[in-house]
Parts: sequence; C-alpha cells; structure tokens
Amino acid sequence: MVAGATFQLSAAGGVEVDEESFSGRTAAAVAEFRAAIELEPDLNRGAAHFATCAACHGADGRGSGDGAIPAVAAQHVSVLVKQLVDFRHDRRWEERMQHFASQHSLAGPQELLDVAAYAESLERWPPLEGGFSDAVAEKRGSALYHRHCADCHGPLALGELRRMRPRLAGQHYAYLLRQLNETAAGERPGMDAEHVRLIGALSTLERAGLAHYLSRLSPNLASTQDRAR
Ligand code: HEC
Ligand code: HEC
Repeated sequence: MVAGATFQLSAAGGVEVDEESFSGRTAAAVAEFRAAIELEPDLNRGAAHFATCAACHGADGRGSGDGAIPAVAAQHVSVLVKQLVDFRHDRRWEERMQHFASQHSLAGPQELLDVAAYAESLERWPPLEGGFSDAVAEKRGSALYHRHCADCHGPLALGELRRMRPRLAGQHYAYLLRQLNETAAGERPGMDAEHVRLIGALSTLERAGLAHYLSRLSPNLASTQDRAR
C-alpha cells in the first residue's frame, strides 16, 4: 500500500507543490526536487542505496531513541526528498547529513527518489525509547497540537504527502524536542517564518508536551489525505 502511494505520487504528475514551502530555495534546488518527484521510484535500487543510510538510521529506518537520529521509516516520500534536497543545497545544516545527501553519495534526482521511496516503504513502530509516561505533559501537548498544528500536520499527525508536511506521529521524543528548540533558535533555515514564530512563542514546557504527545501517537496508519487521493 505504501508503494501504491508512491506510485500515485508519480502517476499524478508530481506533488501539489506548495510554493510557499520553497521560499528561500534556489532555482536549482526547486528544479532538483521537481525532477525527482516526477520520476518512477525503483525500490530495489533504493534498498541498495539505503545500506549507507542504515549505518545511522538503522536497517529498519527507525533512527535512535536518544534523539540524535530521526526515524525516516514511513515518512512521506515527498518530505524525505525535500529534506535531502535541503541538505544538498544548504537549507538544512547537519554535517553528517550534508555529506551523505551530497552528490557524492546520491548522484541525482533518481537516486534521491529511490532511497526516499524505500525509506517511506519501511514501517515505523512506535519508538518507546526516549519518551516517558507523563499524563499531564501529554494532555498539554494534545491541546496545543489540536489548536496550533493539526491543520497542517493532520488530526492524527500523519502529515500530508502532497503538501510535503512531515509525519510527526511516532517520531522520537528527543528528536522532536530538539527540532522544536532548534527551530525556535533559527537553526532550521528551511522552515518558513510563520512556523518559526509559532514554535518560538511556545514555552519549554509546551514544546516538551508537544514532543511527548507526538512521539506516543501511532504512526502506522495511512492518512485520510493519502487515501483520498
Ligand atoms: C553518519 C550518520 C548518518 C548517515 C550515514 C545518514 N544520516 Fe540521515 N540523518 C542523520 C542525522 C544526525 C540527522 C538529523 C539531522 C538534524 O538534526 O537536523 C539525519 C536526518 C535525516 C533526514 C531528515 C529527517 C527529518 O525528519 O526531517 C533524512 C530525510 C535523512 N537523514 C535521510 C538519510 C538518507 C536517505 C541517508 C542515506 C543516503 C542518510 N540519511 C544517511 C545522520 C545520518
Ligand atoms: C502552516 C502549516 C504548518 C503548521 C501550522 C505547523 N507546521 Fe510543522 N511543519 C510544516 C512543514 C511544511 C514542515 C516541513 C518544513 C521543512 O521543509 O523543513 C514542518 C516541520 C515540522 C517539524 C520538523 C519535522 C522533522 O522531521 O524534522 C516539526 C517538529 C513540526 N513541524 C512541528 C510542528 C508543531 C509542533 C506545530 C504546532 C505548534 C506545527 N509544526 C505547525 C507545516 C506546518
């Protein structure tokens, strides 16, 4: 079914590109993204490329519970390609990823799509490491999420393939918290200004509540948006 979603992506002639999510990107970066998502993915070649990624992200794509390495399994292929393109074109900074997303490791659009489609096809089990059971934090996070985030990331935090909105459900607690803190500190240059403002206005406790809530949601559901299209 996941491969089906990928096929649909290509069959539909690419994702419905939300122009705003490309603000600040160079023409070369946007062109590379568009070229990749219009190709047909090859999961076998993607699996071969993923052997390099597995050294950090794990063969199952689940990343690490300490928050250093995110789960990429079951992330939308469009989101994965966009992040890889951002690492390649200096819109997202992390030395190791800039190296492994570079043309040195992934030659061009076809390789980007293949490896991203393979990662998407992996299942993401709820990563229980890293979070802790705290009903108060979870309730706080849930309320904030539904007020400020659900419109974009979806009612179940499953994200949206076509608008390149990341699936947050079942991502590692510590990774989510770190991304929220780095976003607020202006260290995710790919995020649009409104996203930065929204996250920056939250207190430390609120960010922790959100990360707590999101990390505990089940990631193993197809989003209604994906099924409808
Ligand atoms: C040496 C370790 C390492 C290797 C190898 C590696 N990654 Fe990563 N990856 C990371 C780290 C660390 C991050 C988190 C970066 C950050 O904090 O911004 C990351 C982040 C990512 C992200 C962003 C995820 C998100 O939710 O936004 C994607 C996509 C990704 N990696 C894909 C890959 C792919 C595909 C490969 C193989 C071609 C790969 N990585 C190889 C360490 C690695
Ligand atoms: C207007 C739509 C929108 C809203 C509202 C929104 N987001 Fe996002 N969010 C996005 C998009 C698009 C991205 C991908 C940005 C990029 O390309 O780097 C993103 C990225 C993220 C990431 C990084 C994911 C990763 O894997 O690195 C986190 C965490 C996140 N959002 C959390 C939140 C939270 C928490 C809220 C509510 C307080 C929120 N977002 C509200 C659209 C939105």
